[in-house]
Amino acid sequence: MKSVFQSFVSYLLCDWVASIGAIVTTTSAVIFLTFAFQGFSNPYYGIVVFLVFPAFFVLGLILVPAGVWRCSKRRGGLRNIPSVDVTGPAAIRFFGLLGLLTVINVAIVSAGTYTSVKYMDSQQFCGRVCHVMTPQYTAYQDSAHSRVECVSCHVGPGAAWFVHYKLSGIHQAFAVTFRTYDRPIHAGNRSLRPSADTCEQCHWPEKFQGDKLKVLKKYEEDAHNTEKITVLMMHVGTRIHKAHVGKNIEYIAADTERHDLPWVSANGVVYKSRDIAGERRKMDCIDCHNRPTHAFDMPATAVDAALESGELDRTIPYLKRDAVLQLMGKKPIEEAQPAVKRIYARNIFPEMMVSWGTYPNNIGHDLFPGCFRCHDDNHKNDSGKAITQDCSTCHELVAVSEENPEILKQLGAK
Ligand code: HEC
Ligand code: HEC
Ligand code: HEC
Ligand code: HEC
Ligand code: HEC
Repeated sequence: MKSVFQSFVSYLLCDWVASIGAIVTTTSAVIFLTFAFQGFSNPYYGIVVFLVFPAFFVLGLILVPAGVWRCSKRRGGLRNIPSVDVTGPAAIRFFGLLGLLTVINVAIVSAGTYTSVKYMDSQQFCGRVCHVMTPQYTAYQDSAHSRVECVSCHVGPGAAWFVHYKLSGIHQAFAVTFRTYDRPIHAGNRSLRPSADTCEQCHWPEKFQGDKLKVLKKYEEDAHNTEKITVLMMHVGTRIHKAHVGKNIEYIAADTERHDLPWVSANGVVYKSRDIAGERRKMDCIDCHNRPTHAFDMPATAVDAALESGELDRTIPYLKRDAVLQLMGKKPIEEAQPAVKRIYARNIFPEMMVSWGTYPNNIGHDLFPGCFRCHDDNHKNDSGKAITQDCSTCHELVAVSEENPEILKQLGAK
């Protein structure tokens, strides 16, 4: 036994390539085994633990026979490799030093890889270096998620998805270099990762509860920019989330944009508006919240928001009407108020062919079909029951387009 070990060590020490191979393999194996079984939520660890260390491990395994081969070639055969003494203080010092150096090396290399990967996944890199994403980055900075990193939604934790997205990243880098990307760009053929692994890492569905009062202010296109208020009691936690989140709802889309959903099933009961075959997809957060961070406005809603916030002065006659015309290109935008120009720059990106309505928002049903893609009274099951469009299913219409809703006075909100 001792002699087998001794000749093995002799082989390793005979050529520096083999020695380095052995050290690299051992240390990367040790580090891999230490980290691989620890839970981690940060996707960057994926590449370090599951790609860098195994790569070093394999590299080491290749270096060992390569070194032995070099040595045996030099000496004219394996038999002529001199056997070394593996005991004694000199040997201990030698192995100790080599071990220490390797640990330091691997640590430096992995830290270097870690920082560069982290940089490539940072919002600066994703949003700014990669100029084709300017529209998404602009909207992102203006959203509730502007402190959430791109990869929290686009990659999520775990090694397999990390590799999946890195490979598609290489493809995308080519597309950007050779300008073969789609304009406007779409979310990887609509194949964003299931939201249980992304959104639900921060938003815990068990904690969704309660209704939410929504006060929506709009302005007429008249001389006074008259304010009209709609008050909705949204059954967010009590019905909307309850009816879909954690329920087995599937659909088949007739288009890649998922606007036309003729076939829906809820826990096995099929509701359809017409027959269609195709891939079934499980409904998740993103089917409603498709614009949680890259939300683009429509002209009238954007102007309403600026009038509500006071950024646009409501006392200027016909301001709402004129601002909308300027944003639509029917009046010169050069003559517009700074706030209107800002709305334009926030939403229109000619170089990426992003314009009004390029990216519809599926929450609601006012400007885009949204909920009514399914809740249209047209998707029926075998017994003729439809996915409901009843107006008080999702919200109570407490006030609709009123100038002074009574309810706001009662609530002390006016
Ligand atoms: C809160 C989650 C979230 C964050 C954070 C996020 N995205 Fe997105 N992103 C999405 C969703 C959801 C979609 C749309 C998926 C769909 O429509 O199917 C999307 C779509 C996209 C698209 C495709 C074009 C489009 O608008 O549909 C690009 C490009 C994109 N994101 C880039 C980024 C960049 C760059 C960042 C960081 C600066 C980022 N995203 C941060 C959730 C997110
Ligand atoms: C890294 C954590 C994180 C992830 C991942 C995340 N969110 Fe959020 N989300 C937040 C935070 C923080 C807020 C802001 C809360 C606030 O402002 O009160 C927020 C706010 C929201 C809101 C309210 C938005 C608004 O404009 O008021 C919605 C809706 C939402 N997230 C949906 C999603 C969806 C859908 C996904 C997955 C595509 C997602 N989130 C992923 C942390 C996250
Ligand atoms: C059937 C469509 C639908 C699905 C599926 C859905 N939501 Fe929502 N969600 C809504 C609507 C509608 C609102 C209320 C929006 C509003 O009017 O403010 C909302 C509100 C929210 C809010 C803000 C909560 C608040 O009280 O202000 C968060 C956060 C959120 N959703 C996260 C999620 C996450 C995470 C998932 C997936 C687990 C999800 N939603 C699935 C429709 C949906
Ligand atoms: C992919 C299709 C689809 C979309 C899109 C969709 N729903 Fe639903 N929804 C369903 C199905 C299916 C049911 C369950 C019907 C049943 O079991 O009777 C349902 C049930 C509901 C219920 C419970 C109804 C009841 O009778 O209690 C509410 C509330 C609801 N949805 C709100 C929304 C809102 C709000 C949106 C848009 C933000 C939306 N849904 C978008 C398919 C959809
Ligand atoms: C499947 C759920 C659902 C049904 C059914 C439904 N709504 Fe809505 N409705 C919504 C959601 C979600 C919003 C968006 C609230 C927001 O702006 O965040 C909304 C918004 C509205 C608004 C405000 C739109 C705006 O921006 O001014 C009105 C008005 C409205 N609904 C009326 C109706 C009427 C009338 C019906 C019956 C024909 C109806 N809704 C049926 C889910 C529903």
